[in-house]
Amino acid sequence: MFRQAAAYQYDSEHQPKAKSEMTEFELKQLFPKHVWKPGTLLMPVPVVLVSCGGGKSPYAPNIITVAWAGTICSDPAMLSISVRQERYSHEIICRTQEFVVNVPMASQAKITDWCGMKSGRDVDKFAETRLTPLPATQVKCPIIGDCPLNIECKVVKTIPLGTHDMFLAKIVAVQIADSLLDRRGKLDTEHADLLAYAHSEYHALGRKVGSFGFSVRKHR
Ligand SMILES: Cc1cc2nc3c(=O)[nH]c(=O)nc-3n(C[C@H](O)[C@H](O)[C@H](O)COP(=O)(O)O)c2cc1C
Repeated sequence: MFRQAAAYQYDSEHQPKAKSEMTEFELKQLFPKHVWKPGTLLMPVPVVLVSCGGGKSPYAPNIITVAWAGTICSDPAMLSISVRQERYSHEIICRTQEFVVNVPMASQAKITDWCGMKSGRDVDKFAETRLTPLPATQVKCPIIGDCPLNIECKVVKTIPLGTHDMFLAKIVAVQIADSLLDRRGKLDTEHADLLAYAHSEYHALGRKVGSFGFSVRKHR
């Protein structure tokens, strides 16, 4: 019903009445909505495997699944992750001030979920999952070799927000697997088997529907 209504808006032939002529009641009927209490409904979001620990730190390498992650600045390149204070990884990152965001493939959804169900306090997640710790280039904690994209980060600020502390971090290196690059060495996101997270569900990203600026690009 909602999808049909949304389609009407852009299809003048089938539009029952111009939007500008509709009353608020009619508009609300066209786009029926439920009001929910405030919640973390922004979706889809990435879901990533964050590796931390290792090096000369007193902590063995660990992995935490994080969905509250985001790009926050282009120059300097920065991202953030929000982690609950009680997570083992929170303790590790507070101590070491570094971590790696490893972007998993949709085919790694199960392992991604598992790393978010178990704590490094109880299990060695690298050993149990057989994920491969490999050296990072700029931080002491390992990257996860099995993930096609690894973003090495150093914490610049920790912001307590409530349930979660947000680690604002500078991106100090990025490692990209060959499999993500096309023949010209360009990043090919369409065939990257990317994984997204929406309201407790994992989704595989597949169909490209446009690219940056395509709405204003002149056809050749
Ligand atoms: C899909 C998914 C997303 C998650 N996102 C977060 C998150 O953004 N922040 C967080 O603190 N915990 C998040 N968690 C929970 C942690 O991954 C989980 O508590 C994990 O066991 C903590 O591991 P650790 O104790 O070894 O650090 C998520 C779990 C799953 C399954």
